[in-house]
Amino acid sequence: MYDVYKIRQDFPVLAQKINGKPNTFLDSAASAQKPQCVIDTITRLYSTCYANVHRGAYYLSEHMTLEYENARKIVQNFINAADNREIIFTRNATEAINLVAACWGRKFLKPGDEILISQAEHHANLIPWQMIAAETGAVLKIFKIGDDGSYLEEEYLKLLGPQTKIVAVTAMSNVLGTIFPVRKMAEQAHKAGAVILVDACQAIVHQALDVQAIDCDFLAFSGHKTYGPSGIGVLYGKYALLDSMPPYQFGGDMVEKVTYEKTTFDEVPARFEAGTPAMVQAIGLGRALQYMADLGMENITAHETELTAYARGRFSEVGGFKEIGTAEGKGGVFSFVLEGIHPQDVAFILDKEGVSVRTGHHCAQPLVERMGYTSLARASLGLYSTREDIDIFINALQKAKTFF
Ligand code: ALA
Repeated sequence: MYDVYKIRQDFPVLAQKINGKPNTFLDSAASAQKPQCVIDTITRLYSTCYANVHRGAYYLSEHMTLEYENARKIVQNFINAADNREIIFTRNATEAINLVAACWGRKFLKPGDEILISQAEHHANLIPWQMIAAETGAVLKIFKIGDDGSYLEEEYLKLLGPQTKIVAVTAMSNVLGTIFPVRKMAEQAHKAGAVILVDACQAIVHQALDVQAIDCDFLAFSGHKTYGPSGIGVLYGKYALLDSMPPYQFGGDMVEKVTYEKTTFDEVPARFEAGTPAMVQAIGLGRALQYMADLGMENITAHETELTAYARGRFSEVGGFKEIGTAEGKGGVFSFVLEGIHPQDVAFILDKEGVSVRTGHHCAQPLVERMGYTSLARASLGLYSTREDIDIFINALQKAKTFF
């Protein structure tokens, strides 16, 4: 049984009072809180076995290397990759997507080729494609979403064609909560002769993702949203594709042979992990994914689905509350406006009640503008969220209204 109250005890920060009120943390979509086991893993590594990986013929280095490579295997299992060499540790999802745009894009994109993304992408899955398009002469195409934030298959298929070389799409919008059918989209992309990158930043926290079942060519996510440390992310890529790509960052631990004249590069994944990696963070990420796997991804999904329905059922009690993004089957991310009150003021008042929400353009400025706004407030759920969190949130919104 999924006992959310027991689970909350794993997250020390949730027991802390905020402005004298219970910590009602509704900003997990921006960055999630950390369970004690992740905090303990980080402390253990620094206090008992810290050393650089892949570089020392001594106990501490060998031990850290073992744990680092074991973290790669945990990630492999978590997303069901066929081979642990298909897992590249990056700084975050942003760096993972930049890596694909730079390494794959520079090699394979030619003038006139098309890159296809959706209107729902956040900056991390938009700007790298704008930049590589400008550099290579490729054209960035953007397919429309519905006014309610829903995925429109006909719009995707309208722009997917023989010129499309890569589709880069989110599996779940960080603003709208819309879930994109990436498995079907991958099939359609492949049929058109394109590869597909899935931005799994939000989706991976809420549902089990199987890269072999989706049959995506690349997938990216960040550790800090998956209850792991910040400063670590993952790029998954099919081995043959990764192997065909040159590196774009150069330095230690990614080389085969270096002379003053010339350098040859190491195999995948080392080729893409130049310099001392974020090894403590990678091992911490492995622990976080293990934590989620132990709870059971299907249990986390069921809990959040129930809570999403509960929250959305209560929004209508707040006069002037408008949810932005109401696509069927959406996940637990609720962007909203409260009529007559600027989102920044809403967040300020909520904070006084111990409620943390995000405001602004959510690193997705064109999307927020496409929905007709310049700024939104956003509440989002995590695996530790409860009905009480939603109740406090609703009461705090009611209170905010009394100030205006
Ligand atoms: N992309 C993150 C968010 O949605 C930071 O808040």
